[in-house]
Amino acid sequence: MLKDIERVLYTQDEIREMVHKMGKQISSDYAGLELVLVGVLKGGFIFLADLIRSISIPVSLDFISVSSYGHSTSSSGIVRIIKDIDIDVKNKHVILVEDIVDTGLTLNHLKGLFLSRQPAGVKICSAFDKPCRRQTDIAIDYKGLEVPDQFIVGYGLDYKEKYRNLPDICILKSEVYSEK
Ligand code: IMP
Repeated sequence: MLKDIERVLYTQDEIREMVHKMGKQISSDYAGLELVLVGVLKGGFIFLADLIRSISIPVSLDFISVSSYGHSTSSSGIVRIIKDIDIDVKNKHVILVEDIVDTGLTLNHLKGLFLSRQPAGVKICSAFDKPCRRQTDIAIDYKGLEVPDQFIVGYGLDYKEKYRNLPDICILKSEVYSEK
């Protein structure tokens, strides 16, 4: 697994610090409000597990699963809901929790979907941000660490379902994804 890695971009300690700050901010922004965190599977699962433990106010949790890249490294722009949430979000405050915003097409679609469900509000939170590839002007309300225009893996993020278990955020060697 490690032979496919070019270098570590963010260590687990740097990620932990970012998550703690974000959790503190969310706890203060949503104090006294009914908050639902919606994790976008699968990539967001480790981030969400860490984030929810950094939030000190009452919070509900649900998951949505969407298809994004399949086995490629570029977005098709087509978002298919594989598993929807179970909680009714009407009049509740929703935060969509993503692993990374790349083109922004996935979250743009999801934000529209959630807004149609009459919540009190919908905000977006992402552990990582790759701004140079954006194709929409979607606002990230809680933004973690910025990444360059390279393919990253680890801390829940995969390439062809591998590398999710790497504890750091790592840059994948380009020859790995340019292989046929
Ligand atoms: P977007 O719709 O282009 O913003 O794509 C978002 C999704 O693409 C993320 O939730 C990831 O699943 C995937 N993705 C985008 N960039 C990367 C990357 O560098 N590593 C791993 N997955 C990525």
